[in-house]
Amino acid sequence: MALKITVIGTGYLGATHAAAMAELGFEVLGLDVVPEKIETLSAGRVPMYEPGLEDLLAKHVAGIEGSSGRLRFTTSWEEVGAFGDVHFVCVNTPQKHGEYACDMSYVDAAFASLAGVVRAGALVVGKSTVPVGSAERLAALLPEGVDLAWNPEFLREGFAVQDTLRPDRIVVGVRGSGERAEKTLREVYAGPVGEGTPFVVTDFPTAELVKTAANSFLATKISFINAMAEVCEAAGGDVAKLAEAIGHDDRIGAKFLRAGIGFGGGCLPKDIRAFMARAGELGADQALTFLREIDSINMRRRGQMVEMAREALGGTTFLGRRVAVLGATFKPDSDDVRDSPALNVAGQIHLQGGQVTVYDPKGMENARRVFPTLGYASSALEAVRGADVVLHLTEWREFRELDPAELAGVAAARVLLDGRNALDGERWRAAGWTYRAMGRPTA
Ligand code: UDX
Repeated sequence: MALKITVIGTGYLGATHAAAMAELGFEVLGLDVVPEKIETLSAGRVPMYEPGLEDLLAKHVAGIEGSSGRLRFTTSWEEVGAFGDVHFVCVNTPQKHGEYACDMSYVDAAFASLAGVVRAGALVVGKSTVPVGSAERLAALLPEGVDLAWNPEFLREGFAVQDTLRPDRIVVGVRGSGERAEKTLREVYAGPVGEGTPFVVTDFPTAELVKTAANSFLATKISFINAMAEVCEAAGGDVAKLAEAIGHDDRIGAKFLRAGIGFGGGCLPKDIRAFMARAGELGADQALTFLREIDSINMRRRGQMVEMAREALGGTTFLGRRVAVLGATFKPDSDDVRDSPALNVAGQIHLQGGQVTVYDPKGMENARRVFPTLGYASSALEAVRGADVVLHLTEWREFRELDPAELAGVAAARVLLDGRNALDGERWRAAGWTYRAMGRPTA
């Protein structure tokens, strides 16, 4: 009989994982402790913007016309315990308030609830990003005869569906020989593995570390190129050309070398901080002191963008000046504004007296909630109307497709600062704009 799967926690990770498991042919039951989320998902709707996810849900959620009916949602732990052969724990692990460490309360609560209902012989699989050592501790909370495996998730927002259905690797941490757990997960992932996805089996600590190591590496790559951007600013170089040139060395690779206002979002910043905190607890803090520098290079970018804007306005004050901000989300194709560099820059300028008007294709509602005192416009054109300077802070395709001549007609001054190195400077200059990108003083 085909395995029955439950997914605990239906945020970005859980909702996507649940839909993907149904797509792979399994019967799936998703649980969340927030009833509104369950209502929304049961109607085939997604509480966030994630390309392709709503279609995938609608294809499988029971009760929707034409669906496979393989996917249902509930708030009942009893139902989850009785249903599942395999339980995926996908709850979030935010940064603790006032410290770097990771807040494990949602994971702990999920394991406590699950432990009370899980059937003997079932497999529990942790997917949440956790400090190394957690799996060992959590395994002890499960009843005798219930196995645990750790299977970190590497999905990127904006590509969540694709990354879940066709991951570039599957990592499975098991305890002891872990044969039964490994066999079960090979069955769950038979589809992607059959299509060539590597399946890497490790012990618990290694599996937990793979996730934080991968995110630390990505953060390091971005901060490295942003450090080069700072040097290019000082030396009169062009960081985009530099990145292109070093990227041709396939040991370095061209990806994740886009200089700009840096990384944000719900993962990279908090994951590197939690990693540092955990290494400290383990007495290995020296090994990760470089991450402190990665974090500060990254945070400095936001201030540097603010200074570039101030300079563009004559170098003294933002008071009474109009600033158009294109982009509010931490990256394109997402409505997520958590720790968004774009919103941070907009906020700093606003708090210094600038009249900031923000436009974002999908992030307006979330941005308004986080920063209600900023000005918001219904289009890029409206944001730019009357602006003394325009800041391009999230690289949405919509912004690359803007007509520079049309915007030139409504702006008070034709000055464009590209905080993502993503616009075609030549096109903007041809329409009379002064185009300035970060780390490219002469480009
Ligand atoms: C990240 C990891 O990529 C993913 O594997 C992990 O599971 C979760 O965290 P995500 O947060 O969705 O995914 O975003 P990602 O695409 O990694 O981008 C993170 C940030 O880095 C964004 O703010 C982006 O704008 C920035 N970035 C990315 C750069 O500034 N330059 C780059 O070259 C690449």
